Amino acid sequence: MADLNINGRTHQVDVDPDTPLLWVLRDTIGLTGTKYGCGIAQCGACTVHVDGIAMRSCSVPLSLVAGRQITTIEGLAPDGVLHKVQQAWLDHDVPQCGYCQSGMIMAVAALLKDKPKPTDADIDANLTNICRCGTYQQIRAAIHAAAASA
Ligand code: FES
Ligand code: FES
Repeated sequence: MADLNINGRTHQVDVDPDTPLLWVLRDTIGLTGTKYGCGIAQCGACTVHVDGIAMRSCSVPLSLVAGRQITTIEGLAPDGVLHKVQQAWLDHDVPQCGYCQSGMIMAVAALLKDKPKPTDADIDANLTNICRCGTYQQIRAAIHAAAASA
């Protein structure tokens, strides 16, 4: 049994400690906002926060995150007020198919916590998530808008 703190709630799960966090989130707990893309830490679709740091949950074993604070896309707006990144995403019509977007938003939320006013070079260096719909220009504009709204 492991205790997982997800979005402010504790979940007791009986899962092999080597199981990737992504599968625990989706299959055991039912939080399906976090997506599976590549399974090898390349695409970023599975990005969540662990103690405030963006991590690719497909490649993080359960044993590494027990007892730590995990935030998924479902927990980004806990009081019903959109996170500034979510609001900027809506304002700039960023999502197309949407598949990559929860991971993108989690990655950007972590980036803005570290660098509240990122330059284009900061964005290029830090945001390595992949979007097959090619929404990168909208993403860049939305990041700058979210940074300006802080
Ligand atoms: S599914 Fe985790 S990085 Fe692609
Ligand atoms: S919006 Fe479709 S993959 Fe990014």
